[in-house]
Amino acid sequence: MNQDEQTANAATTTATSVDIEEEKSNLYELIGGAEKLREMVDRFYDLMELEPEFAGIRVMHPTPLDSSRDKLFWFLSGWMGGPDLYISQFGHPRLRARHLPYAIASDERDQWLRCMAWAMQDVGIAEPLQQHLMQSFYQTADWMRNTPG
Ligand code: HEM
Repeated sequence: MNQDEQTANAATTTATSVDIEEEKSNLYELIGGAEKLREMVDRFYDLMELEPEFAGIRVMHPTPLDSSRDKLFWFLSGWMGGPDLYISQFGHPRLRARHLPYAIASDERDQWLRCMAWAMQDVGIAEPLQQHLMQSFYQTADWMRNTPG
């Protein structure tokens, strides 16, 4: 592990609400860079596969989940202020439009958010960072709703 990785890993466990509010680092650095972000995304899809309470959103996704894992990781990398891996390959994400083929109501939104909260907890994201990210995920997931209920 090089110095940068060590610093990034340390930030994962110590990021405080002050660090986040004062934007001493961007979210990508605070979470621990590519390695930790990939771990979080992988846990998210592992849980979606494993846990019956997420069956409603699992059926919307392809099998296997490899492309979903890559795309969410690439997207979140740029969204958190790291390398823009999604946009450099696919252009503007048009996330709401890309989700229109899937019926997303409050229940599907909440499954996605619970799955992500669980994944963040499992991979040990610092609490203040989890809370901050959950607020942002909520905004995005809520905006994705395209079906009543
Ligand atoms: C609200 C609940 C959500 C549901 C039910 C949902 C479901 C899906 C499904 C079924 C796909 C297509 C299969 C795939 O490519 O994996 C997809 C793609 C994707 N989702 Fe979501 N999603 C939700 C929220 C979110 C949120 C909050 C984000 C970002 C923070 C996000 C980011 C993405 C990305 C980047 C893709 C790939 C788009 C592409 O095809 O290039 N999704 N989602």
